[in-house]
Amino acid sequence: MGIRGHALCRNTGRGFKWNTLNGDDRLQMNPHLLPTVLSLLAILCPVIPLPAQERPRILGISHMAVKVSDIERSASFYRDFLGFAEQCRLNNLKDGSLMLVCFKVSDEQSIEVFTGLRPGEERLHQLAYCVHDAEAMRAHLAKNGFKVPESVGKGQMKNLGFTVRDPSGYTIEFVQYTPDGWTRRDGGKFLPDTRISKHITHGGVVVTEMAAAMHFYGDILGFKESWRGGASNNVLSWINMKVPAGRDYVEFMLDPKVTPHFCLLVPDMEKAKAKLENSSYRSKYDKPLEVRVGKNRKRQLNLYDPDGTRVELMEPDTVDGVPVPSSKAPLPVP
Ligand SMILES: [Fe+2]
Repeated sequence: MGIRGHALCRNTGRGFKWNTLNGDDRLQMNPHLLPTVLSLLAILCPVIPLPAQERPRILGISHMAVKVSDIERSASFYRDFLGFAEQCRLNNLKDGSLMLVCFKVSDEQSIEVFTGLRPGEERLHQLAYCVHDAEAMRAHLAKNGFKVPESVGKGQMKNLGFTVRDPSGYTIEFVQYTPDGWTRRDGGKFLPDTRISKHITHGGVVVTEMAAAMHFYGDILGFKESWRGGASNNVLSWINMKVPAGRDYVEFMLDPKVTPHFCLLVPDMEKAKAKLENSSYRSKYDKPLEVRVGKNRKRQLNLYDPDGTRVELMEPDTVDGVPVPSSKAPLPVP
């Protein structure tokens, strides 16, 4: 009866939907049995676990926010060195002072540079993911025991969203782009050819409590592991967890000594490096531009914003086109 009941009644997250076993939405049964079946389903449906396909969908990275100590100095790094264009500046509602500068990476993604970094504060300020339905995600997290705000809010850019803390303490934002929001309003604008990348592929966070992180990202949000690698064969260093309905991912960094970062995809590292070398900002940047091949066999180049936040550039494919298998090294011992 449980199997039959599951096939007939699905919890869609917004109520229950009737289905027949062959996928036909018309209910086909003896009408005299209907009251009995309805009574049984009323008991059975609430205890049937929410199927993965019914979990609120995470589509990809919306934005990465960094906190900085001198907003104009950092804005120059992202504008004059990385070549992004400002979409907007937002002020603090309390006192009207500048709060952030938003740089568009694509019509779907952006980098937000927040003012007000204090000594010792985490510089990777927010990792924001795009969702299909922010309220459904808020309710889903609340139902699973996570602390969430009482309601979804509409921000200054008129998108819907809310923030939570992940088990490692990072601020995770869920954003739903609205038809009247500035993301959609500015489609096709602020996307100059000078920009170094057209896609944020991942954020990297330090994870020391693996079980808690896996529960949050895997069990609750539906991220799936896509790759794991080690700096050596003896110990695991990174685990990539891909969003359920897109290609972006979060990188768990298992070494507590490293610092968080985010990664911009570049199709050709040598061309990207040449762009940086020829930029007007290059004379202000005092670090070498070193292209190296990572353990994942992809070309990479690390940049550091004026407060030291690492911005990783990475090619999408391995140097020889052959995928690198996941490491079998054990997790680090705390
Ligand atoms: Fe990375």
